[in-house]
Amino acid sequence: MKKNIVILISGGGSNMAALVRAAQRDDWAGRFGARVAAVISNKQEAVGLDFAKSQGIETHVVDHRLYPTREEFDIRLAEVISAYDAPGSPVLVLLAGFMRILSQAFVEKFSGRLVNIHPSLLPAFEGLHTHQRALDAGCKFAGATVHLVTPQLDKGPILEQAVVPVLEGDTAQTLAARVLTQEHVIYAKAVTRLLQAQT
Ligand code: GRF
Repeated sequence: MKKNIVILISGGGSNMAALVRAAQRDDWAGRFGARVAAVISNKQEAVGLDFAKSQGIETHVVDHRLYPTREEFDIRLAEVISAYDAPGSPVLVLLAGFMRILSQAFVEKFSGRLVNIHPSLLPAFEGLHTHQRALDAGCKFAGATVHLVTPQLDKGPILEQAVVPVLEGDTAQTLAARVLTQEHVIYAKAVTRLLQAQT
């Protein structure tokens, strides 16, 4: 089986980099015939693009500001992604800090092969500012969730979660940094399991 993975980012791309490193370290090519074929950003200035290029991965920018509607942006994005569909093996699409809400048509097109990472223990704290909201709520634990994407935001089936303690004196920034290290672990774990299931 030849399986292409496409990763979508908007900024730093540390989750994307962790996935690329996991693919190398755990030999996704040898074990599953899978490779990270492309990284796509909706922002030209996303620093993660430089890392992808340094690894010899194809990169694309689809700038959402150039499209009058969400639907038109999503159509173009889907076109770029679909070029990586391999015969008999649809591309796996990983959202990694991709800060755009996707239209229902896009989500349905990639249904079952569209994965996201969210920095909270879903179903708690869907949406933005998850770490500050967890602190404001007095949570003793925070975390992250890898889930399949369905049309309802942050509500798809959960694939992996990591629990992270909230420590005395935490700020949204210190908590986010602690959660992020675990995001890197569980995203690779969830993708490995998906690839295993498809092999
Ligand atoms: C991560 O916490 C991700 O869960 C959230 O935004 C952050 C992006 O980090 N959606 P990075 O771009 O992967 O470094």
